[in-house]
Amino acid sequence: MPRANAAGHDASVPATPSSAHDPWWRHAVVYQIYPRSFCDSDGDGVGDLAGIRSRLDHLTWLGVDAIWLSPFFPSPMADFGYDVSDYCGVDPLFGTLADFDALVADCHERGIKVIVDWVPNHTSDEHPWFVESRSSRESPRREWYVWRDSPADVPGRPPNNWLAQFPDGPAWTWDEATGQWYLHLFTPQQPDLNWDDPEVESAMHDTLRFWLDRGVDGFRMDVVHTIGKDPELPNLPTGRERDAVIANDVAVTHDRLRAIRKVLDEYPGQRTSVGEVYLLSPERIATYYGRGDELHMSFNFSALWSRWSAEAWTRNLDEVATHLDPVGAWPTWALSNHDVPRHRTRYGSEARARAAAMLLLTLRGTPFLYAGEELGLTDAEITAADQVDPGGRDGCRAPVPWDPSTTHGWVRADNWLPWPPDAATLDAASQRRDPASVLHLYRRLLTARRGSPALMQGALGRRLAPDGVLLYERRIVAPVNDRRLVIVNFGDNAAHVATDLEGDEPVRWSVEVSSDGSGEGDVFSGTLEPSQAVLLRPAADTGHSTGHSGPT
Ligand code: GLC
Repeated sequence: MPRANAAGHDASVPATPSSAHDPWWRHAVVYQIYPRSFCDSDGDGVGDLAGIRSRLDHLTWLGVDAIWLSPFFPSPMADFGYDVSDYCGVDPLFGTLADFDALVADCHERGIKVIVDWVPNHTSDEHPWFVESRSSRESPRREWYVWRDSPADVPGRPPNNWLAQFPDGPAWTWDEATGQWYLHLFTPQQPDLNWDDPEVESAMHDTLRFWLDRGVDGFRMDVVHTIGKDPELPNLPTGRERDAVIANDVAVTHDRLRAIRKVLDEYPGQRTSVGEVYLLSPERIATYYGRGDELHMSFNFSALWSRWSAEAWTRNLDEVATHLDPVGAWPTWALSNHDVPRHRTRYGSEARARAAAMLLLTLRGTPFLYAGEELGLTDAEITAADQVDPGGRDGCRAPVPWDPSTTHGWVRADNWLPWPPDAATLDAASQRRDPASVLHLYRRLLTARRGSPALMQGALGRRLAPDGVLLYERRIVAPVNDRRLVIVNFGDNAAHVATDLEGDEPVRWSVEVSSDGSGEGDVFSGTLEPSQAVLLRPAADTGHSTGHSGPT
């Protein structure tokens, strides 16, 4: 099936065909939407599905291929939707199932795929399954959750030393009525499901089918590596009691992922999965792709968390080349999401954030953008009075500003969280009018990517570069011959970079995209400014992707 050419995409760029070996998600750019923060349509101060629908023109203009929606399911909102009380519905705060269907239809009409969040490790404590499970030790659903006694020798103490990710406290809560502890890797309102019970596994498969039947194109799977646990639930080493999420890595999870994959494969259309495998080790993460029969993709959090330095990013590239590429595991790249400070905030300057966008969108693998990063947003400053998240992640969840007015395209000026800094100049409408904006840079990068088979599918070869500089070539030879060169200057000084690659005929390179917009279309001078990155193409190459000058 040819990829639909979404309205607003550069018409000179041919659609890229997908095939079984080259499925759509390998050349997609995915855009994460945190529904609470994207756009409000009804004036309650919280974003909703109708708000998302009203902003699809932005996504089409930008040129993304898929959206990932963070949870919009019924939830008491103890963890803002990651505590699900009904896997097969829409919380009234966000709209209705009809709104969801309409959103999917609108997206599909524009050639945009829809990925939804699936939270398999835990439910809300208000999910009917848990309500039933905690009702009595004899409940038929008792074993659907992880219930344990205190250790025989220490009455009153939790079953092991695990601590919850947040808030501070044990990963166990005592249930007075039935006299046992239940496990929760996150808040006490998020009891862990017991995937050792086959009924849980089958009920959770049905929740996947519910959304697959409604036409979703895939799932982002929340802390999915934790659905298998060592049945002994052993103590963690002293000092690492909080590491249950990053230490949980057991064989049985892989059987469960294969079974999940089979459910996805029951459906036509290359439905996909991307796992939040929070193991901070590309070597371990690679095992979660199985032999092409587990996850389609996994996030790579060691890269997301790494410093802004050539050494750190050289290591990230080399780890992927060592552990993922040889086993055919397709890499992913993300710099920001709803759980971490935005990379514009972490890296400390707009110039760096621009260079980082170049990196993100030219590496080999599927890039995930987090709504608002294309505007160069920094985190909101959250006072103690504004704080609502038990995990302290409010700053990166500030509402996205759509225009310079006081309501910024939302209904109200005051919403569930304060605006990010400079909302009246970094808003989408103002940036769309300014070709020098961060927003336009993202669009040029997306256009360049879509127009270059080398960038979308080609190999990545890292080349020698001066200290503080990362240099890599993207190249494909069949079915078409295409190449690009990317140079990122992480340093605070100008860098002079030779672009004659070893063993190659000298090539004259021209600047296709520059992170600061300078010199685009010119022959590359060999000099990069501090924190500048460039995407180069052979100067003689007059192929189809030269133009990026679409309407503003
Ligand atoms: C994941 C989500 C995060 C949530 C947690 C518990 O890490 O990204 O937002 O709090 O899982 O579901």
